[in-house]
Amino acid sequence: MEEFAKLIIDGQEFILPVIEGSEGERAIDIRNLRPQTGYITFDPGYGNTGACRSAITYMDGEKGILRYRGVPIEQLAKSSTFVETAFLLITGKLPTRDELTRTSVYLNDFSTLHENMKAFYQNYPSKAHPMGILSAMVNAMRSFYPELLDIEEEMNKTYLRIISKIRTMAAMAHKISIGQRVIYPRPDLCYCANFLNMMFDSVVVPYRLDDELVRALNVFWILHADHEQNCSTTAVRVVGSGKVNIYSTISAGISALWGPLHGGANQAVIQMLERIERDGLSVETCIARAKDPKDDFRLMGFGHRVYKTYDPRATIMKEMCDIVLKKVKQKDPLLDIAQKLEEAALNDSYFKEKNLYPNVDFYSGIVLRAMGIPTNMFTVMFAIGRLPGWIAQWKEDVSDPEMKICRPRQVYTGNRLKEYIPIDQRKADDPFC
Ligand code: SDX
Repeated sequence: MEEFAKLIIDGQEFILPVIEGSEGERAIDIRNLRPQTGYITFDPGYGNTGACRSAITYMDGEKGILRYRGVPIEQLAKSSTFVETAFLLITGKLPTRDELTRTSVYLNDFSTLHENMKAFYQNYPSKAHPMGILSAMVNAMRSFYPELLDIEEEMNKTYLRIISKIRTMAAMAHKISIGQRVIYPRPDLCYCANFLNMMFDSVVVPYRLDDELVRALNVFWILHADHEQNCSTTAVRVVGSGKVNIYSTISAGISALWGPLHGGANQAVIQMLERIERDGLSVETCIARAKDPKDDFRLMGFGHRVYKTYDPRATIMKEMCDIVLKKVKQKDPLLDIAQKLEEAALNDSYFKEKNLYPNVDFYSGIVLRAMGIPTNMFTVMFAIGRLPGWIAQWKEDVSDPEMKICRPRQVYTGNRLKEYIPIDQRKADDPFC
């Protein structure tokens, strides 16, 4: 039975269709609102606005549910690999063994960079943030690999080309930033092992790969692989809606992820914990400051636009802290601080009333530190993980007949009609001059 919403404006009734998703969520279809009523809707930050129909990721913020193509994140984290999860997100199906093997062969084939790209790195400021380098390098792929074909098979290769090379770009940025020789990808290593080897192998001290750390990196990237219409994915859909090439579109997603309110939060969490440790701040002080609207101190890694309960990824990430720290035989004082902060916040009325819980970023930095990833590379790690999700969302957007170029409206609050005043007639006491 088709549902409708009735809107009454100035005594006149307007009927708006209601559309329903496969999990029962419903939306009022306002595509004809302005032609029918002359009104637009107002929703800064789009917290109540559905931008598209999507079959990729399902989240239930109240119940803490996250599924990629219907598969619960807990099952993928337990049993899948990052490459298999990327395949699932982009194609909508789990790969056969042959498809997985073919995908891995392509990822190996595409893992090196055009040698001329190294000149970019050498001429970048040595202290450049790796997120800025990554965004630029992915954008440069449009110039180095111009063969953007419409043939589906070719586009699948283009997706794998970005997924493969982004690892090499990230590791190269790290190696050059610390003045070490760049380590090239090895054809005998899987996706995650290759990245760790490119990051940590060196001519002086050969890097010994550890299966548990490789497994941990797979899980880390699975947890980050997609998250429906978040800020950076929305940036990818907005930029892609103008028919921009996929490389430049993904580059926009990397830039959108960088900020401390979004993907940059994992770096901000560790910097917050380091500051708490360095300044000897008590948990009580931190909680009090986080609650004080006049204080700009926020509990980074807490809160979420959609999750109003524990982020299911944070639950798994927290478990990974103990596994990885035990593996590397390390204790991290920041983990103790994080756990005390979490306990205090979860028992505080302010956080409970505002439904503020740990999100994916709260514990992810502890896991990355234990793996030896430097703090300034944390958001790069998030970007590598989110890449398959961006590609899947871009692919869905550009092939959706309902989708048009993104062009929201506004409520104008500026000057009413103003006449132009020639410069020699402008009066000093006129606020408009
Ligand atoms: C990610 O969207 C996604 O899916 C993102 C992501 C993904 O996978 O793509 O999940 C990844 O970005 C996770 C979020 C990482 N960011 C942080 O951890 C930064 C800290 N968190 C906040 O800045 C905030 O919670 C946001 C940005 C995450 C959400 O912001 P909202 O939904 O706009 O919420 P809000 O800022 O309007 O806060 C609502 C209230 C406010 O108080 P009032 O004005 O109502 O009195 O909660 C308070 C806020 O002051 N609040 C916090 C807080 N987060 C919100 N107070 C203290 N500490 C916090 N962390």
